[in-house]
Amino acid sequence: MSRDLADLFARHERERYAMHARHLNEQMVKVLRAIGYDIGFCRGEGAYLYDRDGVRYLDLLSGFGVFAIGRNHPVLRDALKSVLDGELPNLVQMDVSPLAGILAERLLARVPYLDKVFFTNSGTETVEAAIKFARAATGRTGIVYCEHAFHGLSYGALSLNGDEVFRNGFEPLLPDCVAIPFNDLPALEKALRFRTTAAFIVEPIQGKGVNLPADDYLKGAAELCRRYGTLFVADEIQTGLGRTGRFLAIEHWNVEPDMVLISKSLSGGHVPVGALLTRQHVFEKVFNRMDRAVVHGSTFAKNDLAMAAGIATLDVLDSEKLIENAARMGERLLRGFEAMRERYELVREIRGKGLMIGIEFGAPKSLKLKSSWNLIEAANKGLFCQLITIPLLKDHKILCQVAGHGSHTVKLLPPLVVSEADCDWILSAFDSVIADSHRVPGAIWSLGKTLAGHAMRAGR
Ligand SMILES: Cc1ncc(COP(=O)(O)O)c(C=O)c1O
Repeated sequence: MSRDLADLFARHERERYAMHARHLNEQMVKVLRAIGYDIGFCRGEGAYLYDRDGVRYLDLLSGFGVFAIGRNHPVLRDALKSVLDGELPNLVQMDVSPLAGILAERLLARVPYLDKVFFTNSGTETVEAAIKFARAATGRTGIVYCEHAFHGLSYGALSLNGDEVFRNGFEPLLPDCVAIPFNDLPALEKALRFRTTAAFIVEPIQGKGVNLPADDYLKGAAELCRRYGTLFVADEIQTGLGRTGRFLAIEHWNVEPDMVLISKSLSGGHVPVGALLTRQHVFEKVFNRMDRAVVHGSTFAKNDLAMAAGIATLDVLDSEKLIENAARMGERLLRGFEAMRERYELVREIRGKGLMIGIEFGAPKSLKLKSSWNLIEAANKGLFCQLITIPLLKDHKILCQVAGHGSHTVKLLPPLVVSEADCDWILSAFDSVIADSHRVPGAIWSLGKTLAGHAMRAGR
């Protein structure tokens, strides 16, 4: 067997769809084929992916937000190699790791009102820990979450998922979880008044839809939580580590949560890791006696490669000033998209902060566009966005996707390393595709008819 994994990748690259259809999730292969995403990416570097012919694509998905520092960053690579070359005594278990201590210290230095860190292996596992810690710390069972929320897909996190598509077929979920509308303080107060809620768990900016909080929402929510003895938990798994132009998104609104959850970007994209940051008194309620020292944990958490990935990622964020870059590039993109909204009737709203941006499309006013829009919508709600993302990939070499099931919002989540030239690439590509979508008849609406046909057949 070849030990050179890059060589193994190259030799089997063309069989990837066949292997996945046979051994893994065939439905995913079908989806990718239907929307023409069978590119066969062969290399990744920074904000770019390269296909078999070496053609460069700009990646605005960044692996669902994990490649904040860009793909295959040399600092990250060196850090991971140095762990392996150093023959470190990884995962001794009956010892504690210096690398975990260092990463915890560096994270807490950035969130100074919190005192303790608990490491996990993923986003959803971090949410599971938050649910358990909140119950242990308060002696209450209830968790309040928001409609349209996404906190992960394991059972606890799924119980806080605001989208039926994810929940259906997996019930019963965790009891005592209550959904309220996002941005609705009276609804939150109504839910908390019974004093049975352990935690209110919220994404500062909702990933599904890129929904922004009203200016007073998060501060008001934190105050209500304090008043009713509920812990305020910010799920920053997507928004954290500079994504929105601040280390944590919550900093935009000057709020200090009782728990902050991070993951995704902390991994550098390469070694799964998550971290729950919280107050001393919460931690002490969980790990309250020596015989409970291992009452919550996971075998691989705090492994040296994950800790090294976290340390290297924080280093790169600072040395390359990526948080400032996210703020600047985000401004540039938002300005450009806002100008498009004024020009194009199909563009309804632009939302975002830093490099987390949503472009929402909506029903047009003019008659010539209306009937085409209605046809596509009748076939499959949200299909219109694919008429934007498909030509972006095919004609402009930009990879991006829709912000959730049935959504009319195309979402951009680029690596934080994008340059001004990349922003110009994004804006001119969107401008061109959106302009095409206003031409009836035209290539985009012909594609729409084909996809609508697929959707109708699949629905039968
Ligand atoms: C806000 C938020 N929380 C939790 C999760 C779950 O993370 P993971 O997919 O690593 O389990 C995600 C993933 O997209 C997320 O965006």
